[in-house]
Amino acid sequence: APPRPPSPPPAAGPSPRHAERRRRSRLRSGSTVLLPSMLMFGVILASSGLLLMIEKGILAEVKPLPLHPAAGEVFRRVETRGGDLERELLRDIRNRTIRSVCGQRAMPRSVWELPAGQRRTVLRHLLVLDGALESVDVKLKMDHKSDLVFLGDMTPDEINYRLKNYYKFVFVRNPAERLLSAYRNKFGEIKEYQQKYGVEIVRRYRKNGGKSAGDDVTFSEFLRYLLDEEVERMNEHWMPIYNLCQPCAVRYDFIGSYERLNEDANRVLEEVQAPSFIHFPERQSWYKPVTAETLHYYLCNTQRRLIKELLPKYILDFTLFAYPLPNITSEFCRQ
Ligand SMILES: *[C@@H]1O[C@H](CO)[C@@H](O)[C@H](O)[C@H]1NC(C)=O
Ligand SMILES: *[C@@H]1O[C@H](CO)[C@@H](O)[C@H](O)[C@H]1NC(C)=O
Repeated sequence: APPRPPSPPPAAGPSPRHAERRRRSRLRSGSTVLLPSMLMFGVILASSGLLLMIEKGILAEVKPLPLHPAAGEVFRRVETRGGDLERELLRDIRNRTIRSVCGQRAMPRSVWELPAGQRRTVLRHLLVLDGALESVDVKLKMDHKSDLVFLGDMTPDEINYRLKNYYKFVFVRNPAERLLSAYRNKFGEIKEYQQKYGVEIVRRYRKNGGKSAGDDVTFSEFLRYLLDEEVERMNEHWMPIYNLCQPCAVRYDFIGSYERLNEDANRVLEEVQAPSFIHFPERQSWYKPVTAETLHYYLCNTQRRLIKELLPKYILDFTLFAYPLPNITSEFCRQ
């Protein structure tokens, strides 16, 4: 996605008042029934394809939702029993780790305990769904503004109410794969990123790099940039998930994994009692995920020292969400 401006111009985003008016008028006209259990989306993902699916896809074609699944409606979600066990195990590990890390005295217990800048970051990335989406065009490239509203656009009371009562979920991804994916997607394919970040990265880290168009950033240069950047000022695609989603300050009801996206997305649909005709969409055909071989190639062709120095910055993402640190031993790299 093109980087969003620091604060959306007032006219562009739906203001809370605007949204409220729209909601009331919808209520009055009675044409749209509101969802009983509201959803809150935590969007933390590195991959644009994924964002598209989560925001736009989940509720594709939702007309007025019945307040409860209609009588006789059966939930037919494909589940494998073995997968269930694995998922419960992972959920338990994450749950315990988060509880023990977030239980420490220095950790924030609510978004209001966060420094203002950090609070702004998380509130600006939590999408709120108040009621059913009116229309969803899955083909539309990511547009974070229509239908879904950022929590940060609401008043403190509205924010508190939603944090307390809505179903909140977030999807996480292996931090090493996430960074590689961000690198390959943003610097390989997206001009705005090449101009906004690439030019500067090359200028900083390459001798005579002044003439680069920013489209030839190497992975090592990207990692050096991450090492030098202040976490709070990072772009959302490479900011540590911890800072982006603040899992201590926000008590998420569910933490899904990118690695089991379909199952976990369907689990969310189940939890919010979405009617069975709603399905999580297929992956877009143009989307090419990072493979283990690609990761191996990049990690093993990067100075080990650089990776080791960078890991502490992302250590909470590895720990809280139970991802193993990347194996960069020479045995592994020799394979
Ligand atoms: C952690 O466990 C508690 C209690 O079982 C549960 O309510 C909560 O939703 C879990 N959180 C996550 C993120 O799985
Ligand atoms: C790293 O990979 C090597 C080679 O496959 C393996 O022997 C070693 O146990 C791995 N280390 C870790 C920490 O996973």
